[in-house]
Amino acid sequence: MDWGWQNRMARMFPAPTGRTVMLAVDHGYFMGPTHGLEVPRQTLAPLLGLCDAVALTRGVLRTSVPPSTTTPVVLRVSGGASVVGADLSHEALTTSVEDALRLNVSAVAMSVFVGSAHEHESLVNLGALVNQGEAVGLPVMGITAVGKELDKRDARYLSLASRIAAEQGAHVVKTYYCEDGFSRVVEGCPVPIVVAGGPRLETDRAVLELVHASISAGARGVDMGRNIWQSDHPVSMLKAIRSIVHEDCTVKEALQALEEARLAPTAREPRADASPVRA
Ligand code: R5P
Repeated sequence: MDWGWQNRMARMFPAPTGRTVMLAVDHGYFMGPTHGLEVPRQTLAPLLGLCDAVALTRGVLRTSVPPSTTTPVVLRVSGGASVVGADLSHEALTTSVEDALRLNVSAVAMSVFVGSAHEHESLVNLGALVNQGEAVGLPVMGITAVGKELDKRDARYLSLASRIAAEQGAHVVKTYYCEDGFSRVVEGCPVPIVVAGGPRLETDRAVLELVHASISAGARGVDMGRNIWQSDHPVSMLKAIRSIVHEDCTVKEALQALEEARLAPTAREPRADASPVRA
């Protein structure tokens, strides 16, 4: 790949670790104003400078991210379905590579729905996006989406979907962690894997264990949203995740730092606006 592609990848996976902590705030593209992300500008303000990249849509980028930011942007370019519609897998490419370049992003991202009614379209669209991205030096991240079928997330399915996305040419694959056999998912995928967090977990420990287990199994980072910005202390949670990804901290160490930050009276963090809409 040419220098531009390499530069974009190096910015998303910065030295010295070559790992990444991406902040995912793209949920509104099918969920609307999800709890914790009702006002993206407010959610992003304290977090943008602390992540290695931010994953969002062009609507949130243009309205809620200062153009002066130096944080690399991973632009979601697929959509076309909603959480109240008939089929979440019925997506297409909705944002052009030309617009992605105009927005000066570091990568584009789209979901693939392996095993769904629209498997074929999503995989063909991924191949087309890779063709267009490689022509202009834009890395492409394939996201192995499961829609509402969260139970699908076992090693067999995630290996299959991740490998298929990589075979279509995705340069990075975002998938889920699974307790049994996640290292097989990583081994079977010839490009870097980053792990999504999924719906909010019950405890901080569970979040940090997921991150630690993912990195230990060979993931090159995380691309997490709800478990950060739905947390009672998003900044401290993001920092704790960073300590595992970039400093090889144990869960115990990260949890201790998180507890200290949480209990410090001066470090209380403002919550995003409350809203009756919850995801
Ligand atoms: C779906 O909306 C996106 O792909 C999210 O970016 C992805 O699910 C990661 O966010 P979370 O950690 O909240 O699952």
